[in-house]
Amino acid sequence: MSILITGSNGLLGQKIVAQLLNAGKPFVATSLGENRNPDCPEEMYRPMDITSYYDVQDVLDENKVKAIINTAAMTNVDECEEDEENCRMINVEGVENLYEFASIFDLHLTHVSTDFVFDGENGPYKEDDKRNPLSIYAKSKRDSENILMRGEYRDWAILRTIIVYGQGNNLSRSNIVLWAKEALKEGKELTIVNDQFRAPTWADDLAAACIKSAQMRANGVFHISGPETFSVYELVCRIADFYGYDKSLVTPVSSETLNQKAKRPPKTGFDITKARNLLGYKPHSLEETLKLLEN
Ligand SMILES: NC(=O)c1ccc[n+]([C@@H]2O[C@H](COP(=O)([O-])OP(=O)(O)OC[C@H]3O[C@@H](n4cnc5c(N)ncnc54)[C@H](OP(=O)(O)O)[C@@H]3O)[C@@H](O)[C@H]2O)c1
Repeated sequence: MSILITGSNGLLGQKIVAQLLNAGKPFVATSLGENRNPDCPEEMYRPMDITSYYDVQDVLDENKVKAIINTAAMTNVDECEEDEENCRMINVEGVENLYEFASIFDLHLTHVSTDFVFDGENGPYKEDDKRNPLSIYAKSKRDSENILMRGEYRDWAILRTIIVYGQGNNLSRSNIVLWAKEALKEGKELTIVNDQFRAPTWADDLAAACIKSAQMRANGVFHISGPETFSVYELVCRIADFYGYDKSLVTPVSSETLNQKAKRPPKTGFDITKARNLLGYKPHSLEETLKLLEN
């Protein structure tokens, strides 16, 4: 019985594929369009739009699936602000489609959500803290959570996460750690916000938690992030320190100066005790992962 992965061309999806391949476990990798991950064997890949009833039905009819891990989403928060219709189509209706199929085929559903469901006024957050999303992306993810939380079918887990980083193949977008590492290496000057606090998450750690969730048919909401919360400015300074790049190139600025379309929560961060206890979650420190990125 396989695990069905959605969004396998994305950063998290690629890490899940790599770990399942490594463990010799069966899976079906799916994403929008063609397979862009050269490490994912073509015979294990099917194009599948999560918003399409027929796409999902075909994949489930053709494969013996026991669980779905949904990493697919419209993830660019500023683009979501400009295209609410598409954002809700993928992030809400797509999840509704998967949830319906999970309940019909009796599949476990692991759905990945975000710290942005919180307003950032009272971080770090526990799983049952009150949600108050500030942007269209964040509301779409809150609403996607509600589909699972309010539905009758209960065989699901929601894994919320924060700034996911790592290296991938042909990604449609970079992530702050890779981007800062490359920019500092090239000697570029960077202006970085010092009033947004996050607990950045190593994509491989999150992938392992998703697989664990599917394998043990975990139930409920879990917070999955890196072990430390700090400002984005401190994050970039620590990257500079680690690789020996010039930290004076990094200038702290306030979020107001950036004029970003989507409003961001000031301070998130998670209490990850539940994931440590129930999923055996053991996140790497930032510096441990920077060492791995070096290779
Ligand atoms: N990245 C972060 O910092 C972060 C933070 C908090 C939460 N999350 C959540 O974590 C999850 C994974 O994030 P990620 O960084 O791996 O995202 P990502 O790299 O942007 O990948 C998302 C993937 O979803 C696919 N996709 C988009 N629309 C689809 C559709 N209609 N049907 C099927 N696939 C579709 C995309 O395919 P194409 O590439 O082919 O378009 C893309 O490969 C998402 O749920 C996201 O909301 C991420």
